[in-house]
Amino acid sequence: MTIEPPAPPEKVDDLRWDDDRASTLGSYALELFRELLTKLPSLPVSRRWKEVGVPKRLALEVPDGPTSMDAIKRHLRELVFELSMYPGHPRFMAFITGPGTIPGVIGDFVAAFLNQNVGGYRLAPAATEIERFVTNFFAKEFGLPEGAGGILCSGGAMANFIGLKAMRDAKAGFRVRTEGVAAGTPMAIYASVEVHDVVTRAADMLGMGSESVRKIPVDAQRRMRMESLVDRIHHDKQAGVRPVCVVGSAGTVSTGSIDPLDAIADVCAQNELWFHVDGAYGALGVLADELRPLFRGLGRADSIAFDPHKWLYVPHSAGCVVLRDPQKLKDAFSLAPSYVKEDKARTGHGDDYHTMGPQFSRGFQALKVWLSLLAHGRRAYGKRIGHDVALARYMGERVDAHPELEQFGKGPLSICCFRYVPKEGVPEGLRRDTYLDALSERLMTELQLDGRVYCSNAVVDGRAVLRACIVNFRTEASDVDALLDVTVELGRKVHAEMRAA
Ligand SMILES: Cc1ncc(COP(=O)(O)O)c(C=O)c1O
Repeated sequence: MTIEPPAPPEKVDDLRWDDDRASTLGSYALELFRELLTKLPSLPVSRRWKEVGVPKRLALEVPDGPTSMDAIKRHLRELVFELSMYPGHPRFMAFITGPGTIPGVIGDFVAAFLNQNVGGYRLAPAATEIERFVTNFFAKEFGLPEGAGGILCSGGAMANFIGLKAMRDAKAGFRVRTEGVAAGTPMAIYASVEVHDVVTRAADMLGMGSESVRKIPVDAQRRMRMESLVDRIHHDKQAGVRPVCVVGSAGTVSTGSIDPLDAIADVCAQNELWFHVDGAYGALGVLADELRPLFRGLGRADSIAFDPHKWLYVPHSAGCVVLRDPQKLKDAFSLAPSYVKEDKARTGHGDDYHTMGPQFSRGFQALKVWLSLLAHGRRAYGKRIGHDVALARYMGERVDAHPELEQFGKGPLSICCFRYVPKEGVPEGLRRDTYLDALSERLMTELQLDGRVYCSNAVVDGRAVLRACIVNFRTEASDVDALLDVTVELGRKVHAEMRAA
């Protein structure tokens, strides 16, 4: 008896695109990009989104059949020119968010069409090597020794988490990965009161509890007070808590202050603590020769978290953590699922990044960083980062010279904090600072809704202020002038409204 071979299933090619269709949409996207670059300075930085009606205008029904090319093009055009805000706008100076480099955009495009899975070497040989070059480059720039390296991730929050996970597992002194933190003595981390909240959240995610992060007071320049750090470590030891790590900030989020990294490294060496640096904002300042001395001691860290999507200006998202001893990443994250077996002796393949961080499948984030570094070169970065700092200083001087503006918390990097102060003073019967806090808070909202310029807020020395952070290669002095002019214009208006109320 003969058995009939089965009939093969019919081909299904609905998801396959021919070259024409692919290049029609691809070229259109490129056209939109070119148009955006030309129009950017004349567009508003942001709009009143509630009035624009973003959700209503975007929520197309997902159809059963394909949407026409024309409809997709219209949808993309609306998204690009009417329904998005522009961190790449020369007058965007808010939070700490880079504008996106041109080679970075192209890098993301190439990375997407190559679709490498940078979890495993064999799935992404070149991408894995490029990620290694990129992380090694930064480790060297920070002054870490030969052999240091790391991993890319989504941003500063994740980079700090990964560094602190490596720390926890290296310093716990017991099998914390298998037994959990409850099995050992409570551990403590030390950071200044100015540290970013993501560090406290990392301690929470690590099961150590947010209160395991001891907040150390700062000096007049908002830098960690070393005598308070030493006291607190001593106090914890006496109380039976295990000090394990000090987090130094290399550029705090509010004012850009830099902790005394070298002195922290000494304390860590004396007490056998892990030295982690949150350099999400500032660490790439080392690329500017004139700023490098501010970071003395950075190269003594065990781990450094930083963000290429901030001061390397690459498109979102790209965070990174580098370690003096990258083996510690493997100690903290390695796992060996049975289905990813590989005979490395036979293949000669390098490391698999899935063993070095919390992600398993991973995208090719390194390409946008690599292309940006290659296309611009180190010197161009140093020059522009230095220029951002010079612009922030210029802004501070203009604020100081203006009778209705007041500068707050001068820092060494590219942040300028300030507030609007009415010429006539605050209304009678009200406390000056309370009134000015309320005025600053309302003014920030009005500035952001107005959309001609864009800055954000900070709390400095307990006072609510406006904060401009320049990590934007398109920003120039005329944009800084515009931000201050609009601040004064809207400040007067908000003050008049508040006084009337
Ligand atoms: C000092 C510092 N740490 C951490 C972060 C968080 O980084 P991300 O937003 O990339 O997760 C920021 C963000 O501004 C920051 O300035």
